[in-house]
Amino acid sequence: MSNLANSKVLECKGLSKSYKQGDIETHVLKDLALSVDKGELLAVVGSSGCGKSTFLHLAGALDTPSSGKVLINDVDIHQLSDKERAKFRNEHIGFIYQFHHLMMEFTAQENVAMPLMIKGGSSKQALAAAKEMLEQVGLSHRIDYRPAQLSGGERQRVAIARALVTKPSLVLADEPTGNLDSDTAEQIYQLIRSLNDSANTSFVIVTHDLALASRMDRQVKLVKGHLVSFADEMPSTEKIDNENNQDNESHV
Ligand SMILES: Nc1ncnc2c1ncn2[C@@H]1O[C@H](COP(=O)(O)OP(=O)(O)OP(=O)(O)O)[C@@H](O)[C@H]1O
Ligand SMILES: [Mg+2]
Repeated sequence: MSNLANSKVLECKGLSKSYKQGDIETHVLKDLALSVDKGELLAVVGSSGCGKSTFLHLAGALDTPSSGKVLINDVDIHQLSDKERAKFRNEHIGFIYQFHHLMMEFTAQENVAMPLMIKGGSSKQALAAAKEMLEQVGLSHRIDYRPAQLSGGERQRVAIARALVTKPSLVLADEPTGNLDSDTAEQIYQLIRSLNDSANTSFVIVTHDLALASRMDRQVKLVKGHLVSFADEMPSTEKIDNENNQDNESHV
């Protein structure tokens, strides 16, 4: 990890998000603050419905905050035009969605190659890189399959390969091992580690898997709209449940 002034890959400042449904306004994120160092592996945990996906969507410029800022590599992403933001996202951020969002009419290889083609690479090179990435997630035998012909875990691995193929500086992952058996989850963890080692890629990983969370460099928890730091070691599951009932305002 570097100590340079611009050593942050992600900074969220005063980030708030509310949804309005009829007369009811739900404040999902409240003045949330977070800094992630370049090369850091951060786990975000929290109970279902607490706003983890909402947070990742704002951090990845897929949704707009009600107020506050998100800086990625010092760029205020919500100040960019739609076109600039799409380009920036494609070049700097890998996004692993909770529900995959693969393109059903394309093969696994074409899905993974897509971000590289959008970036302007030749389709031959993009397909070759996609093939290599699919090998790394253990899917070399499935490159010509369409999403409908793949299992849930296989689709998830295609989505992971697609997020990583551009070698982004920041990967935002929503439950990346959610549907995977322990061996495949371990492979994904090793892939995260190896990308982190070789390219200093930062990961922000939302997960209910406390074993995975505990293997990240740092763990934070989303509680009542704020991110709360964990103590040095991962708490037991019991402690996590107890913390759900507290309103800890410390920002991380
Ligand atoms: N587009 C939307 N319109 C209205 N409310 C929304 C919208 N998206 C999310 N919410 C609400 O915001 C809250 C947080 O949702 P979010 O999907 O971020 O939770 P989560 O922590 O990712 O949950 P899970 O662990 O179950 O995936 C929920 O109460 C949800 O109903
Ligand atoms: Mg979610």
